[in-house]
Amino acid sequence: MEPEKKHILVVDDEFSICEVLGQYLKKDGYNVTMASSGEEALEVLGKSPVHLIISDIKMPGISGVDLLKHVKETDGALPVLMTTGFPTLDTAIEALKLGAYDYMTKPFHLEEIGEKVKRAFSTIKLQEENVLFSKLVSLHEVTKELTATLEVNELNYKFLDFSLRMVKADGGALLLVDHMGKLAITETAGEHFTPAYWLNQPFVATSRFVAQQQEPALIIMDATPPHKELPPLPPEVCSLISFPLKTPSRVIGVLNLVRLKQHEPHTDLDMEIVNVLASQASIAIENVRLYSNIRDNYLKTIRAFALAVEAKDEYTHGHSENVMKYTVVLAKRLGLPDHEIELVKYAGLLHDIGKIGVSENILNKAGKLTTQEFEEIKKHPELGARIISDVPFLKSLVPMVLHHHEFFNGCGYPLKIAGNSIPFGARILSVADAYEAMTSDRPYRKSLSIEVAFNILIEERGKQFDPQVVDAFLDIMQPGKTAK
Ligand SMILES: [Fe+2]
Repeated sequence: MEPEKKHILVVDDEFSICEVLGQYLKKDGYNVTMASSGEEALEVLGKSPVHLIISDIKMPGISGVDLLKHVKETDGALPVLMTTGFPTLDTAIEALKLGAYDYMTKPFHLEEIGEKVKRAFSTIKLQEENVLFSKLVSLHEVTKELTATLEVNELNYKFLDFSLRMVKADGGALLLVDHMGKLAITETAGEHFTPAYWLNQPFVATSRFVAQQQEPALIIMDATPPHKELPPLPPEVCSLISFPLKTPSRVIGVLNLVRLKQHEPHTDLDMEIVNVLASQASIAIENVRLYSNIRDNYLKTIRAFALAVEAKDEYTHGHSENVMKYTVVLAKRLGLPDHEIELVKYAGLLHDIGKIGVSENILNKAGKLTTQEFEEIKKHPELGARIISDVPFLKSLVPMVLHHHEFFNGCGYPLKIAGNSIPFGARILSVADAYEAMTSDRPYRKSLSIEVAFNILIEERGKQFDPQVVDAFLDIMQPGKTAK
């Protein structure tokens, strides 16, 4: 493939200089556009990509310095070579300070200009190679982060955000195949690129086409021959990358990235970068889906266990669900990481599973329990731990179920361990369990008022309960008041 010709914009209010320079550079193999004023130069810049500007400093209206300032604000990497027929050290210094690539005084030799132009382009090439290298480094970092993300919304957001930044797109949309098998806009990015924008027919048609063909498309406005099945892109778009997201067995979505007219179109290198990102993200998205399916099934199983216990004890209906809710807010407040919050949540549902082995007569007894009956009840943490220790995916809940009746001062059961020897999850569970039990009816008593329950928690702070957990709980339930 022939290398793309570089586009040079020559700006000078003296027509003859423009003409001579233009002809010389064209002969050297460049595309040249000539502008006789700063205003005309800005017009050219707004219409097509320029790789180098050679501009006179002194011009009526928008001067070369004004033009330089504008260029540095909009595209800092575009080199500007300044020329002047009235050389002073001050103007040279000012131009270089403002970011001019170089400075030349008239009259100049054409060869000298030719050399400077060549040097400017080799500097750009070097800069581009540096950018490429840093892109490869960040691509590696980004893919690592994608595969480590386990939350679906976070993953979608990160994938689109990283893609947008890595290939310098102005806007992007991530479409995923929904349960009906249709592509649905799941995430959008970029100012003005709302979900409604992506419902434009050209994007919808291109996304469907790319998903069907399972092949990516790079569509460059005015360069890619129009596909007979696809409507043309909106006029403000310069290029569109539409990339299918595939797992080994199916297409799970499409990633769309656009660049607007004032920029250069995406390149094959951008496609390569998106290729790496898309293949990593496809695997990550599929994994997260599988993971959340497993998690849902897991939760359903645990709920079924909890209901089985509650079916034996008419008074504890809803107890496990409530304990679960309290444990989750407590665990969050106490700063537990997400995976531990999940464990505490399941333990909240399942903590009394051992009651399945306790006689219904004892569980539902209206009067005071005998010592022997209480000893029977006290067996439920160990019984529960034994039941779940045989189930591989429940094993990690064993310590919390086993120790949820331990006291912080060591006077609880079954093992009478104390303080930090009690797993933190079990200490959280203990407060949530006690508060839920106190504030609901029991066979042997009516529910206590919230105030009385709070007072008991405060009374037992450091005795039955971990002070840190009691404080966090009271803070959640009565913000602003403290236990002490
Ligand atoms: Fe219990």
